[in-house]
Amino acid sequence: MDLRSTGNVDPEDIGSNPSTEPTMGELIERRLSRRDAMRGLLGAGAAAAFSQVPTPASAEAGGPSSLTFKELAHTLDADQHVAEGYATQVLIRWGDPVAAGAPAFDPANQTGAAQEKQFGYNNDYLGLHPLPLSGSGGGGHGNDRFLMVANHEYINSNLMFAGLGAARDANLKTSKAQVEVEMAAVGGAVIEIARENGGWSVVLDSKYARRISANTPMDVSGPAAGHDLMKTSADPSGRKVVGTLNNCAGGSTPWGTWLTCEENFDVYFGGDSSKLLLPEMQKRYGVGRAPGYGWFRHVDRFDLGKEANEPNRFGWVVEIDPYDPAAAPVKRTALGRFKHEGCTYAIAKDGRVVFYSGDDERFDYVYKFVTSRPWSPNDRAANKDLLDDGTLHVARFDADGKVQWLPLVQGQGPLTAENGFATQGDVVIKARLAADLLKATPMDRPEDIETNPVNGHVYVVLTNNSQRKSDQVDRANPRAANDHGHILEIAPKDGDHGNSEGAWSIFLLAGKPGQDAGARYHRATSDNGWLSCPDNIAFDSRGRIWIVTDGAPTAAGIADGVYGADTTGFGRALTRCFYQAPTGAEVCGPIFTPDDTTFFIAVQHPGEDSGSTFEKPSTRWPDFKDGMPPRPAVVAITKKGGGAIGS
Ligand code: FEO
Ligand code: CA
Ligand code: CA
Ligand code: CA
Repeated sequence: MDLRSTGNVDPEDIGSNPSTEPTMGELIERRLSRRDAMRGLLGAGAAAAFSQVPTPASAEAGGPSSLTFKELAHTLDADQHVAEGYATQVLIRWGDPVAAGAPAFDPANQTGAAQEKQFGYNNDYLGLHPLPLSGSGGGGHGNDRFLMVANHEYINSNLMFAGLGAARDANLKTSKAQVEVEMAAVGGAVIEIARENGGWSVVLDSKYARRISANTPMDVSGPAAGHDLMKTSADPSGRKVVGTLNNCAGGSTPWGTWLTCEENFDVYFGGDSSKLLLPEMQKRYGVGRAPGYGWFRHVDRFDLGKEANEPNRFGWVVEIDPYDPAAAPVKRTALGRFKHEGCTYAIAKDGRVVFYSGDDERFDYVYKFVTSRPWSPNDRAANKDLLDDGTLHVARFDADGKVQWLPLVQGQGPLTAENGFATQGDVVIKARLAADLLKATPMDRPEDIETNPVNGHVYVVLTNNSQRKSDQVDRANPRAANDHGHILEIAPKDGDHGNSEGAWSIFLLAGKPGQDAGARYHRATSDNGWLSCPDNIAFDSRGRIWIVTDGAPTAAGIADGVYGADTTGFGRALTRCFYQAPTGAEVCGPIFTPDDTTFFIAVQHPGEDSGSTFEKPSTRWPDFKDGMPPRPAVVAITKKGGGAIGS
């Protein structure tokens, strides 16, 4: 989310972790280790786990990379671009029909009721759930028919509605009717999609089609369910929440459900914050800072002066079964409350399921949750409440190249009643404060975390952190004023995600080589192949990483886009530019079909540029029609003539 260009407060810009003051010993350690990191050295214990062997470029296209497409040159304009030999198709746009009876999109006369049935705004995470659901485990192998799930992260009021202008407070000037549209435009969507003759279409009137919004009733489960801090006047039980907010990235489970993650929920709240309980906790979550939207002026539960506990009911991972449109979404509180970017799984050697999740704010943390029990591949129903029982951990990245996963368990270490953690409910609701006490490592905006299906390593994408000072650098966050971000790679000990230890290394340091201090890739990375602000990632079935960016126009003056690279062998970390988004847009939701022949991306907030308005947007992508505003949309990328992407 980048609201800077629209003049709004970007909560990710500020950071709310005060526990980043280092001791003198840590300062010295950091300076020493920073020198090491700049020299590209690895801790002796970690070095063996990685295979970083850059070699000089060869003369072929792509040099030692296994990716042979012709790279795009860096640009920034009103349209999208993809490498030669590839085709793009817009699958679905903001306002297109989802649920039965959806009216045609009429941007000048949009209503909340229409929006509840139409594709929402600012598509982010995309997931593919095969049809039919094969076996009882959820792991079908279809390639031509899927349920696609999509998150709708946030709204750009000034691009959705006429007359708001582009001023700093445009998003606060919305009317009650406009707020109704906005509340219906966030959340997520389930659509059925089918491939025929190489092209994709949305199956209209699918029995699975569904919108989730800020108005959808949901259940709360796990340690925070029924906690006093979860109770409101509308829900004295503390177990029933209406809606989900700021659904950024997400993930899936081995049993075929969708995890949608609540990120910057604080921006939807406003009003008098002086009566908030636990003001320190609220400050740590940014609640009570300048509001991002005008919802609190029209809907009481978003007014902090009227409903102090409502913000505690957001910041969770929400599990939704896309195969059962009648099932209520469930907020799985055992996974902790923070600004979740995504939530992706890996299977431990004993069959327990491990979920990785980043807290996307400057100086916040990386977490993982390990279920108590193994999952049941042959009994889908047995996995129904697996996410309610397990251990949440937070990461400490040590200077010796080791990562330690520290358990966030009530009664262990400093997580005592004395310190404000009387129950596990307290621990998960105040997960950030619990992690502070455990001295987790403050990171440079942890975004996506994904496991490479081929080498089993975990990649942690850190978008940027312009606020990090030179006395705050450490081995894992080695640059002060880190405008361009970096990617870490973790090898779990013995290849087992269930282990509480691993080895970490830096995969790449973004920015322009030779211009931005410390930028580091494969030495053959071309002048087109460097990137800025890595955000979300996907792996193809060969284990190659595809990196999408968020913030490159501001940080580097280039379009946000998609970059592919090998993760092992001679082409490791040789990033190559594959796709560029239209102006104002970031790229989200990268995902391949299992056969690698289609690469879906979510193009989010096209036209989110300074001075851009509904009347005069900086782009009218993808329709380019007078009167039609820019529309966030899902794009399918295929190879002309067929075949696997990048091969
Ligand atoms: Fe919604 Fe972390 O970007
Ligand atoms: Ca975003
Ligand atoms: Ca982002
Ligand atoms: Ca993102």
